[in-house]
Formats: sequence, structure tokens, C-alpha cells
Amino acid sequence: SITRHYTFNIEYLNVTRLCHTRTILSVNGKFPGPRLIAREGDRVVVKVNNHVSNNVSIHWHGVRQLTSGWYDGPSYVTQCPIQRNQSFTYNFTITGQRGTLLWHAHISWLRATLYGPIIILPKRNDSYPFPKPHSEIPILFGIIYIHIIYIINIKVLIYVYILICMHGSCIAGEWFNVDPEAIISQALQTGGGPNVSDAYTINGLPGLFYNCSSQDTYRVKVKPGKTYLLRLINAALNDELFFSIANHTLTVVETDATYVKPFDATTLVIAPGQTMNVLLNTHPHSPNATTFLMTARPYFTGRGTFDNSTVAGILQYHHHHHHKDNFTLLITPTLPPINATNFVANFTSKFKSLANSKFPANVPKKVDKKFFFTVGLGTSPCPQNATCQGPNNNTKFAASVNNVSFALPSVAILQSYFGGSNNNNKNYQTDFPTSPLNPFNYTGTPPNNTMVSNGTKVVVLSFNASVEVVLQDTSILGAESHPLHLHGYNFFVVGQGFGNYDPNKDPSKFNLVDPIERNTVGVPAAGWVAIRFLADNPGVWFMHCHLDVHTSWGLRMAWLVLDGPGPNQKLQPPPSDLPQC
Ligand code: C2O
Repeated sequence: SITRHYTFNIEYLNVTRLCHTRTILSVNGKFPGPRLIAREGDRVVVKVNNHVSNNVSIHWHGVRQLTSGWYDGPSYVTQCPIQRNQSFTYNFTITGQRGTLLWHAHISWLRATLYGPIIILPKRNDSYPFPKPHSEIPILFGIIYIHIIYIINIKVLIYVYILICMHGSCIAGEWFNVDPEAIISQALQTGGGPNVSDAYTINGLPGLFYNCSSQDTYRVKVKPGKTYLLRLINAALNDELFFSIANHTLTVVETDATYVKPFDATTLVIAPGQTMNVLLNTHPHSPNATTFLMTARPYFTGRGTFDNSTVAGILQYHHHHHHKDNFTLLITPTLPPINATNFVANFTSKFKSLANSKFPANVPKKVDKKFFFTVGLGTSPCPQNATCQGPNNNTKFAASVNNVSFALPSVAILQSYFGGSNNNNKNYQTDFPTSPLNPFNYTGTPPNNTMVSNGTKVVVLSFNASVEVVLQDTSILGAESHPLHLHGYNFFVVGQGFGNYDPNKDPSKFNLVDPIERNTVGVPAAGWVAIRFLADNPGVWFMHCHLDVHTSWGLRMAWLVLDGPGPNQKLQPPPSDLPQC
């Protein structure tokens, strides 16, 4: 194994999409950002230099960070953000993982444009447990906002929008004339949120179904009769997506940097924060220049306005030897309807760990700590003198785990934990509720009390505790799937179902043999999912819905895992260049 060095300069970049030019935040002037490539076992050192006025931090989503929790990246959880003209060098080893992951900014909503692939190749002299691909193609899904300011605070901003629209073209101003963080915090105060994007993108490009966008279409050329490895990454802020390539079957071989028992599918479902490697076998006899569309469109069951548009890219067959053949036939795939929950449940049930002798599934068989967490939306009081967008008499949208809406502190929790023994000086509490406020029929008629309370509460786990968490969706504002992401761990998805979790019946159906190992799992709309993990990584680990709008509303919490007795079971000391708040 070797050490690989990268420099990430956070800088402004002008991009034009849908005929509008905007200034966005980028890494090294690239959108999407640069690829980080390593082999399993390598050390990765990334120096991040912040040249913009926003504070930033970068998260290496899905990288386990064994004992290196200071480098995990979520702002105010493991570190203070990197301020303008400051630098921080992330330094971690990739242990026991291979496949595709992603990096992204982890503060406010800056990951809208600050994201890129992490490609972890097998160790040198090791091979894939599937046919060697002819080549590898990263495919990143994202979103773009052009009209970001009009969707925020209806009252103030419709006025701004109308004003700008009067000058011919709507929103001629630059996106960052209005600081996105200021917009978001204002929106969050009143319970709104910019959750309607203008377009979905493949590798930063919206594609030919959007106005003024056919030039901005992702195209990839393939040869007939070959195998390609597509590395799919959903980096969209708030959108679970269906994905398909017309007239092609895809073979799923890996997800969240763990190998799976291969299975075929024509339509995939991928939640934000999830990654998936799939094999594409091209047809042996497709004529030269035949083109097939690849499309993605959201899966969504919640209420309210939502962007149901479709991003398209082009897969084009290309034979070196017939240059003159201009035959083109554009074939479009069919995707399930936006609310196809049964399709999603059926697709997710196909994932099983490879679970062979080389890649065993070390599922915790006995459990030391069991938790039942409700995850879902709720309401909280609207601040005085504000007009809020929540339901029932001017309430504010909120989201919670066991009715606690997690508030980020002003200094990173990990620093507060590490910086002394006096419990009174900690900026978090350890009394996270072990059950929801008022148990009810979670997927039926909601109770009157949907209120949440704010708090910075963590769950303390002793080293090597084996943990089971049942995550129960609540249908308070309509059933909605929540892609829950756990930092610092992979977990096994041992069970899932619709309706209320039944602690007497459901555990007997758990799969403890070859359950899928993930870092992000969709808690089914009007259902539950059960996960298990071994708390073998000391530190403070964030767990949250990977729909940023829900994260911001408070659907997040943290685990504090204590050091183990052995020297390799302790959190490393804080790096000397750790940013200060
Ligand atoms: Cu990919 Cu805490 O996030």
C-alpha cells in the first residue's frame, strides 16, 4: 500500500446550464469535483485549501475512518469548518473496503456542488469477484438550482423573483449574489427549504429533456460485445432516483463499497449517499452509432411540490471500423411512476452480501444494545414574527429521531468530548431518549402531538458493543422514505418491512446469514428497517437522513463510541491543524 496525496482548492467557478450562468463553489475548478482514486489499504492525504468566503469541511462518505475520526468531516460534529484562507489536511487509511464511494462538503447545503467520486480499487494483485471490465465509467447524479431564491421564503422572495423577472430573463443575478447559507438558514427558521431543484444531472449535465440543455448532455461511447463497469453515485441533495438504460440489463455487483451477490435489473433505485457498481454488457451486434438513452427520475411519496423531471444521458455504440455509418436510433427507457414504493421494496430486497470465505459477512449474532428510533417529520413552534410553511396554524417543519430534533453545537462535539473530563463543560447531553415520546400507530392516523424538541443529544456506546437499531418511519406528514446514513461504520440490514415494527414477530425473520452491508439505507415509506453493527470505531459518529432538507430540519443524531483497551482501539489524538471555531 502507498500514500496518495491530493490538493483540493475550494474555489469559485462559473458554470452555464439551462442557458443561465451561475457562480458555484467547486474543487479545483471542476464540476463535479475531481476523482479520488486509491487501492484498498492505501493512505489518502488531502490538503483542503479554502479560497472562498463560505466555511467548508469535506466528508469522505462511507470511508470507515478506523480510529481516525477527526478526519471524518461533518462540520460541528468532528471538526470546526475550514474558514476562508485556511487549510486542513485530511489523512486516513482505507481499510477493508473496495468499490465506489463519494466525497462531499458537509456543512449547510454546500454539497449541492461540492462532490466527487471516491474510487477504491482492489489491492494490487487482487481482482474483482466478477468479470474484468473493458473499462470503468463513473456516473454521478446531482441537481442544479438556477432559480434557487424563489423557492425559499415565499413571502419575501416571490417579490424578489417577480422583480428580477420583470427585466426580461428571470433571475439574471448570480446565484451567489445571495449567499446560499444565508438563504438556507432563513428558510430553515421558517420551516421552508429549497427542495425543488431545476434539473437533475448526470456528471453535472441535465441532458436533452430540459429547455436549453441538449448541448449539455452526458455522452459515453461504448463498443459492442464488451463489459463496462458503471460506478453510480447519487450525490443529489434531496432525491432518491430511478435509473435505467434503454434495452440494456444491468448486473449489480457492489454497493456502498461492499460486494453483493450479483443480480440483474433493468431499473435501479439509488438513494442520496448510496453508491452502486453495475456491469453493463453491450450488445454484440448493435449497428455503429446506435444510441440509447440512460435516464433518471425521482422516487418520492411525500407531500408538496417536487421536481419530477428527468435527466437523460446518451450511450452510443461506436465501432472504429465503420466511420461512415450514420444510423441513429434514440431509444428511451421506461421508468416506474414517482411513488412506486413496492417497486423500491422489491428492488432493495434483492441485495445480499457476497458472504463467501474471502468476503465474509460478520453479522453480529448476539446484541448488547437494542434501540428503537422513530425517524420522520414533525412540527415545532414558529419563531415570533415569522410566517412559517408548516401545517396546522403556522408551525414550522421539523424532523426528529425519537422526537428530538438535533441541534448542531457551535464547537465540534468531538472536540468538546476530547477536551477535558468535566461533564458540565460538554456541549452535548448523553440523555438521548431510548424510545419515542408517545408511541402510536406510526403508519396510520398520526396523533395530535407531532411536536419535537431541540437538543444536542448523543448515545454513548462502549467499545465493541454490538448494536441493533430499528428505524421506524412515521407518517406524520405523509409516509416518506428516509435514506439514513451512518458515519464511521458499515451496518448490516437484517430486516425490513411495512407498517409498525413488531418486536415479538419480526426478529424471527431477520437475515443473519448474508444481509447487505451498507452505510446508507432507505427506511421504507410507512415501514421500518433493522440494522446491526459492531461499535469497534471510537469517536463521534453522525447518523442522519441523507435528504439534506430533512437533515437540516433535525433528522440527525450522533453516537459517541468510547475507546477500547488496546492501543489500536483508541481514537488518535487531534491533528495539530484541526480548524478552530
Ligand atoms: Cu454523506 Cu453525513 O453524509
